[in-house]
Amino acid sequence: MVSKVVYGKPVKTDAITAEVREAKKAGKFVVSEDEKSISFRYTLGAGDVVYGLGETMGKVNKRGGRYISFNTDTADHTDSNPSLYASHNFLVVDGAETFGAFFDTPARVIFEIDFHGSGEIRVVCETKHLNLYQIENESAYGVCRELISAIGRCYLPPLWAFGYGQSRFGYVTERDFRDVADGYARNGIPLDYICMDIDYMDRYRDFSFNGKNFPSIGDFVAEMRGRGVRLVPIVDAGIKVEPGDPVYEEGVKGGFFCRNKEGGFFKAGVWPGLTHFPDFMDPGAREWFGRQYKFYTDAGFEGFWNDMNEPAIFYSEYTKGPKNSFYQLALDIFLGKRRRNKKERELIRDYKSFFHNMDGKMVRHYDVHNLFGGMMTRATSEGLERLLDHRFMLFSRSSYIGASRYGGVWTGDNSSCWEHLMLNVRHMPSLNMCGFLYSGADTGGFGGNCSRELLLRWLAFSAFTPLMRNHTGKFTQNQEAYRFGDPDAFRKIIGLRYRLLPYIYSEYMKAALRSDMYIKPVEFVYPEAKGIEDQLLVGESLMIAPVVTEGATRRRVFVPEDMTRVRYNGEFRCEPVLKGAYDVDVALDEVVFFIRHGKLLPVGRAIMNTSEYDVSDLTLLGDGESYELYTDDGLTRDCTLENIRTLRK
Ligand code: NOJ
Repeated sequence: MVSKVVYGKPVKTDAITAEVREAKKAGKFVVSEDEKSISFRYTLGAGDVVYGLGETMGKVNKRGGRYISFNTDTADHTDSNPSLYASHNFLVVDGAETFGAFFDTPARVIFEIDFHGSGEIRVVCETKHLNLYQIENESAYGVCRELISAIGRCYLPPLWAFGYGQSRFGYVTERDFRDVADGYARNGIPLDYICMDIDYMDRYRDFSFNGKNFPSIGDFVAEMRGRGVRLVPIVDAGIKVEPGDPVYEEGVKGGFFCRNKEGGFFKAGVWPGLTHFPDFMDPGAREWFGRQYKFYTDAGFEGFWNDMNEPAIFYSEYTKGPKNSFYQLALDIFLGKRRRNKKERELIRDYKSFFHNMDGKMVRHYDVHNLFGGMMTRATSEGLERLLDHRFMLFSRSSYIGASRYGGVWTGDNSSCWEHLMLNVRHMPSLNMCGFLYSGADTGGFGGNCSRELLLRWLAFSAFTPLMRNHTGKFTQNQEAYRFGDPDAFRKIIGLRYRLLPYIYSEYMKAALRSDMYIKPVEFVYPEAKGIEDQLLVGESLMIAPVVTEGATRRRVFVPEDMTRVRYNGEFRCEPVLKGAYDVDVALDEVVFFIRHGKLLPVGRAIMNTSEYDVSDLTLLGDGESYELYTDDGLTRDCTLENIRTLRK
């Protein structure tokens, strides 16, 4: 059961859409207030597990950590960094008592969870205004499902968004994109989309193409589409200050940008130089921004990724910076010259220097900071709903709880290291707990150079995440799956994703339509698996145990009940295994996973992209009797549970 306690006059975040009963007191917490904040304390039992917080560093069990909800553009994905790109202020306590709490405020929130062994949860909300949602349920899983249901129906991507995608910060010309499509086709590796990073733009302006590199963008989109490859452009939060540019002029005329202290439009330096931020808190500005995507949809685009929407600020009209020099700035960032503390101080100063129009009142950005990225996703999603008569792909870097109704998320600038593969494994259940079903990381890592082994192991994990995209940074070595010598292993592992699509798509759609999680911790279903964070349940039928250690050719797997072990190496080989703990061999070109007892896994035949998707000839693996297959045309919006049909063995 969900109830809420209202403190002061909370900002309307629209995170929760369900009608919720109001309670007088925060039953589970000891509450204290000072003139600027409200703090909540809860004494933990020794064996209590604390889940939640979505996209944060640390483990799935958040005990022992300090986390700060303050959306930040950061490549420092280490445990000493308290803030990543998103704020998901939801905790679940599971132990002596089981309950959930969602601290619904876009202000800065500090979570200390058994930090330094304090034995308590301490949450400091740096505001006097918030809704505290409390959820009572018998199980942690039940608590999460209640939150997801209260948020409202999750974003539904088209089928092709479950295909495999390639991306890189550094593809510039049509030729670069053709080369990637050719590389995949030549090597017989499936591919559904290629992301276009900021280099497609004219001087990093949103809603523009570099005319020299893309002389006829509509034709190019159609050409790639004809090859079964969709193009997915990036859109950044800031609009370049450029008198004469229609988007800029319209934004100024409509008063759609955030204001500065003097009442003008705030200027922030990002990739294009000085930009204005659309005021995503204002419904009028959201409508205007969403409408701009017509520029892309007219050219045939059907998918987008929204970036830099924490919002990232390199410098501003108030803080010094290398004004228009993109290269100097990039160099500074890569050489680490801009020291983190200084940068943080400057950012906070900037965030305190601009304002949103919320219901006619000017609200300081700093006070609603964590909502900005989610509201950009909302503006885009609502715009695309109007512009297209079918589903679209959309994922964002920054988010707040509730944004899952509008699009998915990716987890930002990770690195090509094994720790970040494991971080990806941990992020997935935590994001699902907060309602973000369509999610994934930069497979292979964004920063640094990826080895063949790391990419193969990472792909073998990403094959199960809804968003499966290989993305890397500007100055890194090539990371396309066909660049690492013999492509056979890549063909097999990416090929597996496509053979699993009937399952992945069904499980995603059913979870989204039933307010469920798509990926969950194993212990949500099998309590004996408590503390095992490197195995996950994917949908109703599967348990996965990815290899996340360099050089390993086997790994320990806890099988919590009798299951079917599946070894995929171009073919599916199934074998029953009894409950127990095993060392399982997993060669580099193999994926090993498990089908739960009494469940089935439908697998399709090998295909090269989702346009060949076919559920007329499925094989059912496992010892179950029936499977609920979700099928539709993969594109139109008519998605209901009536699209389920039962397959029997
Ligand atoms: C930051 C994003 O996180 C990254 O994925 C992208 O490549 C760069 N911005 C450039 O657009």
